[in-house]
Amino acid sequence: MYNWEEVRDLVNKFIDELQFEREPRELYAPIRYTIEQSGKRVRPVLFLMAYNMYKESLDGAFYPAVAVETYHNYTLIHDDVMDRASIRRGKPTVCAKWGDTAAILSGDTMLVLAYEFLSHVPADKLPAMLSLFTETAKEIGDGQQYDLGFETRDDVKEEEYMEMIRLKTSVLLAAALKLGGILADAPAEDLENLYAYGERMGLAFQLQDDLLDVYADQALFGKKIGGDICCNKKTFLLITAMNLASAEQLVTMKEWMEKSEFDADAKIAYFTNLYNELGVKGICERRIQALFDECDGYMEKLSVAPEKKRYLKEFADSLLNRNL
Ligand code: IPE
Ligand code: IPE
Ligand code: MG
Ligand code: MG
Ligand code: MG
Repeated sequence: MYNWEEVRDLVNKFIDELQFEREPRELYAPIRYTIEQSGKRVRPVLFLMAYNMYKESLDGAFYPAVAVETYHNYTLIHDDVMDRASIRRGKPTVCAKWGDTAAILSGDTMLVLAYEFLSHVPADKLPAMLSLFTETAKEIGDGQQYDLGFETRDDVKEEEYMEMIRLKTSVLLAAALKLGGILADAPAEDLENLYAYGERMGLAFQLQDDLLDVYADQALFGKKIGGDICCNKKTFLLITAMNLASAEQLVTMKEWMEKSEFDADAKIAYFTNLYNELGVKGICERRIQALFDECDGYMEKLSVAPEKKRYLKEFADSLLNRNL
């Protein structure tokens, strides 16, 4: 059995050996640039760790695991166009480096590549895996649309936000675990618990992403701090602050959100100070902890021996304390 760092290294090795050498160069350069960067590889690691709980050898599991990572990278390229983001993983985003048209087309091709990689699974596994993968992809589109729609609303409820992040982020972590389980012939009940586990982890993961977007060290996080604040993203932090703010604070918040031209640093400083004043960071951290605690309950229900769960537990612990 492999620990999470060994699994991640194997994923990176597999990706390094994939060939994206194809013409036209302008189309494949952004694809290589994106997939070969050192992302955290959370989703393929989850896929392979679930698989590894039931099967000793990982042979044959890399293509579908990397399909999920390729799909994820496609969503990032398009997400950066939608979110007007200029930096990711410490480097210029595809849209900043090559422009939006390159981002659209290279993203489209990555989506197709993801399906090609997924098709490498045994024929008897393909229908179930394809069906879950496709339903997940549709849900992510739904989540992304809600995320964008919420930018221009100021009455988004916490429950709506939680459903939006379940769709845009959680379902892919959940599907990664379940897909690994399906490929490994895990029992049906385990598949449901793997999915529920990933869903809780995914919610926590997106709450952390929101938190890090304000409080991370930019050099480590690799994305521009305050990007969500500038876009009026209805993050957990903003929604919680709106719930706790005084009438006077609410007026000022809305004034900032309505400005179409503003000094980005001043807007980021205003919201960061407000979050500090209202204790929003601590509330968010407690919610993250509670979601990770819920994961443990689903982990316990899995039918495999306790020692098989150890490495996934260690991976979850590493994510709980992430700063990138
Ligand atoms: C970023 O995902 C998008 C979110 C769902 C928050 P990751 O934080 O997994 O990004 P990489 O792949 O490690 O860069
Ligand atoms: C990511 O949400 C969701 C998807 C990419 C599907 P974010 O917009 O918060 O992700 P980052 O912060 O840009 O990585
Ligand atoms: Mg986004
Ligand atoms: Mg984004
Ligand atoms: Mg984010």
